[in-house]
Amino acid sequence: MSGSGSLPLALCLLLTAASLISGPAAAQNAGFVKSPMSETKLTGDAFELYCDVVGKPTPEIQWWYAEVNRAESFKQLWDGARKRRVTINTAYGANGVSVLRITRLTLEDSGTYECRASNDPRRNDLRQNPSITWIRAQATISVLQKPRINASEDVHIHQSSSPIILQCNLTTSPSPLTYSYWEKNGEEISGTKKNSNTTEHKILKLRADESGEYLCVFVFANSPVANATIEVKAIPEITVHKRSENKNEGQEAVMYCKSVGFPHPDWVWRKKINGVFAEINNSSGRFFITNKDNYTELSITNLQISEDPGEYECNATNPIGSASATTILRVRSHLAPLWPFLGILAEIIILIVIIVVYEKRKRPDEVPDGKSVLRATCKTYGTRSLRENKHHSPRRVLRSSAAVLSPTIRPFTVALQNLYINS
Ligand SMILES: *[C@@H]1O[C@H](CO)[C@@H](O)[C@H](O)[C@H]1NC(C)=O
Ligand SMILES: *[C@@H]1O[C@H](CO)[C@@H](O)[C@H](O)[C@H]1NC(C)=O
Ligand SMILES: *[C@@H]1O[C@H](CO)[C@@H](O)[C@H](O)[C@H]1NC(C)=O
Ligand SMILES: *[C@@H]1O[C@H](CO)[C@@H](O)[C@H](O)[C@H]1NC(C)=O
Ligand SMILES: *[C@@H]1O[C@H](CO)[C@@H](O)[C@H](O)[C@H]1NC(C)=O
Ligand SMILES: *[C@@H]1O[C@H](CO)[C@@H](O)[C@H](O)[C@H]1NC(C)=O
Ligand SMILES: *[C@@H]1O[C@H](CO)[C@@H](O)[C@H](O)[C@H]1NC(C)=O
Ligand SMILES: *[C@@H]1O[C@H](CO)[C@@H](O)[C@H](O)[C@H]1NC(C)=O
Repeated sequence: MSGSGSLPLALCLLLTAASLISGPAAAQNAGFVKSPMSETKLTGDAFELYCDVVGKPTPEIQWWYAEVNRAESFKQLWDGARKRRVTINTAYGANGVSVLRITRLTLEDSGTYECRASNDPRRNDLRQNPSITWIRAQATISVLQKPRINASEDVHIHQSSSPIILQCNLTTSPSPLTYSYWEKNGEEISGTKKNSNTTEHKILKLRADESGEYLCVFVFANSPVANATIEVKAIPEITVHKRSENKNEGQEAVMYCKSVGFPHPDWVWRKKINGVFAEINNSSGRFFITNKDNYTELSITNLQISEDPGEYECNATNPIGSASATTILRVRSHLAPLWPFLGILAEIIILIVIIVVYEKRKRPDEVPDGKSVLRATCKTYGTRSLRENKHHSPRRVLRSSAAVLSPTIRPFTVALQNLYINS
């Protein structure tokens, strides 16, 4: 760990030294790039020691162990020793790298652990003194009795239950307590730090979002932190979802739901068919579901107006209970965006018809032909010069016909708009 920063530097120095002194192809004595680090651990936990050596040829690595206060009586450690709690993984490449791991620690695992490395050809010659042919790096592992914490049982939040009190009592500890605090879902709850070996946390609001994984943590002066977990469970509650989704055919629709409530739920999407919700039929391969802990998303690609509209339900189920919420999907036809345009077009046609009719009826003498008035109107507007006609300027014709027209057309326009909105 701490050696990792110096690895490239050490390598560089060694390689430079090797090439300067004895040329690139020559032998090079073994040297540590990374050596094992001393640690204090608790019973039941595990530790890992790393050893990384350079040299030419690549050095061999061994692990040795001496009990506390018996530093002269080292014994070699083998993979699978101590009832298979010891594992040794070694890889020989440009470097020799080895990891010693011991799990389910007991107090007897305390002691001195030594990484030995050598590329000396005489290293296994019994007549040679190993302290000359092998290089060594040591780490001291202290295993302390794990503190005992008496913690409250896991609880469920019910709307009707009285406030929930979570308790942790420290009953034994290997070193003096510094302080204790509470965590929820991996984050410290502010204001819970105190220096006492009994601690409690009250949950006053009985809501699903207060559920989660609570942890009381005890911090000691000279030994690793200890903690106990209390699970506070609740029925999932769907907090956010889309109530409706309107899309055009061929587009993609995305619906989602978010939940609170611990443990995180399993999500299912269903669609209402003949009045009952059924699993989504994905035979067309257009349905895609993305699930996260407290979030689910259903997307439907290439929407079909004949199959897809309807009611969709997201269902969140955890061991405590379940909740669901529905979204209504509406799919409009391709033509839907044209409705307003068609409405305007119809209005213009009716306007023209009315002008024609109006002109024919009112002034059969002056205006023999509706077409000519229209032609005149268009021409006038086109040239922007208004030919003066005391009784009947084309503008007046239009204005008066529009006045007649508007009340006639309004219901029609409204009907068209309704049609557009409902589709
Ligand atoms: C732990 O708490 C339980 C009750 O919650 C009690 O019966 C038990 O004696 C306690 N154990 C210790 C070691 O204090
Ligand atoms: C913790 O200790 C207190 C008294 O100090 C006791 O009332 C409580 O029941 C204990 N809680 C647990 C979980 O053991
Ligand atoms: C807990 O605290 C009390 C009072 O501070 C002390 O008497 C007791 O020994 C402590 N217990 C542990 C396990 O530290
Ligand atoms: C809780 O204890 C476990 C096991 O001892 C440890 O790995 C973890 O880091 C601890 N968590 C905290 C927040 O102290
Ligand atoms: C959902 O979970 C994420 C992390 O898992 C969290 O950041 C987020 O606040 C949660 N949202 C809700 C609504 O609980
Ligand atoms: C799914 O839909 C296809 C046609 O759309 C149908 O042939 C098939 O039987 C359906 N499958 C189920 C399980 O309903
Ligand atoms: C639906 O089918 C597509 C294509 O086979 C697949 O990629 C997708 O994961 C399926 N969706 C679901 C919800 O099973
Ligand atoms: C959610 O689905 C589960 C099983 O699939 C069902 O038992 C439960 O009633 C559903 N919940 C709701 C609220 O519809």
